[in-house]
Amino acid sequence: MFDIEVSQSALIDIRHATVYRGTELVLHDFSLEIAKGCSTVILGPNGSGKSTLIKLFSRELYPVLGKMGFARVFGQDQWNVWDLRRQLGIVSADLHHEYWGMTRGMEVVVSGFFSSVDLYDHQSISHFHRAQSYAMMERLGVDSLSEQPFAQMSTGEQRLVLLARALVHEPSTLLLDEPTTGLDVSACFQYLEILRDFIREGRTVILVTHHIHEIPPEIDRVVLLKNGAIQDDGPKSDVLNEHSLLALFGTPIELLHRHGWFQVVPAKAV
Ligand SMILES: Nc1ncnc2c1ncn2[C@@H]1O[C@H](COP(=O)(O)OP(=O)(O)O)[C@@H](O)[C@H]1O
Ligand SMILES: [Mg+2]
Repeated sequence: MFDIEVSQSALIDIRHATVYRGTELVLHDFSLEIAKGCSTVILGPNGSGKSTLIKLFSRELYPVLGKMGFARVFGQDQWNVWDLRRQLGIVSADLHHEYWGMTRGMEVVVSGFFSSVDLYDHQSISHFHRAQSYAMMERLGVDSLSEQPFAQMSTGEQRLVLLARALVHEPSTLLLDEPTTGLDVSACFQYLEILRDFIREGRTVILVTHHIHEIPPEIDRVVLLKNGAIQDDGPKSDVLNEHSLLALFGTPIELLHRHGWFQVVPAKAV
C-alpha cells in the first residue's frame, strides 16, 4: 500500500539498477527515489557517476535490471524518449558540445520545444515558438544573442542560451549537470536566482555538481555519491558536514555557512 502511494508521486524511482559505460561498471545494484517537488542535489567527486545517473533519468542510458529491479521516471517504466524529454529541461556539458557552431541563439532556444539539437525542416516552427523563445532569452538577459552563432558566444553566454532552451517549453523538471561550468560570478549568481524562482514556482530541480557553493538554499535534499554508490542521503543539515565531505572528497575541508548558502575552504592543519 505504502509502496504504491510513494511510486505514484515519484519523479524518479530506481531500484536495483546496474549501469555500465562501455565495459566499466559505474552503478551497481543502485536504488534512489526522488518525489515530485523534492528538488535534490547530487554531490560527488569527479568520476563518481553523477552524469551517468542523470543520463539514466533522461533515458540516454539504460540500466541492466535484476528480477526485483526497475527504473521509473514519472511513474513509468517505458517511455518514448521524445515524450519524456518534453517534460524535462536538460543542461549538460554533452548537450553543450552537440550544438553545431553556426546555429544561432534563437534556433538553439526554439529547439527546446522539440527536445532536439538544432532544427530540422519537418519541425513546424510557429510564431508562438519564436515569441516564447525571445521572451525567455529576454528574461535571462541574452536576447541580444538571438542572431549570434553559438560558436561566437562566450562559454557563459552559451550556458545561458542553453538554460533558455531548457526552460522555454515550461518543463516540470530540470535536470542540470554541472550547469554553471564556465560562468563568471555574476552569471553564476543570475543562474542560481533563476533556479530558485523555478523551485519557488513548485517545480523540481535535480542538480548535479561538485561545487558546494552552488546549492540553492531552496534545495534541502542532498545525495552524496562516491564510486557509484550513495554515501549519504538526507536533509542538508544532516548530510553536509566536514566529516562527510572529508569522506566524499578525500581531503580535509572546512565548511562555511552563510544566509542559507555553503562554501568550502581547505581545513587548517592542526
Ligand atoms: N562514454 C564512456 N565510456 C566509458 N566509460 C565512461 C564513459 N563516460 C563515463 N565513463 C566512466 O564512468 C565513470 C563515471 O563517470 P561520470 O558518470 O561521467 O562521473 P561524474 O559525472 O561523477 O564525473 C568514470 O569512471 C568514467 O571514466
Ligand atoms: Mg559529470
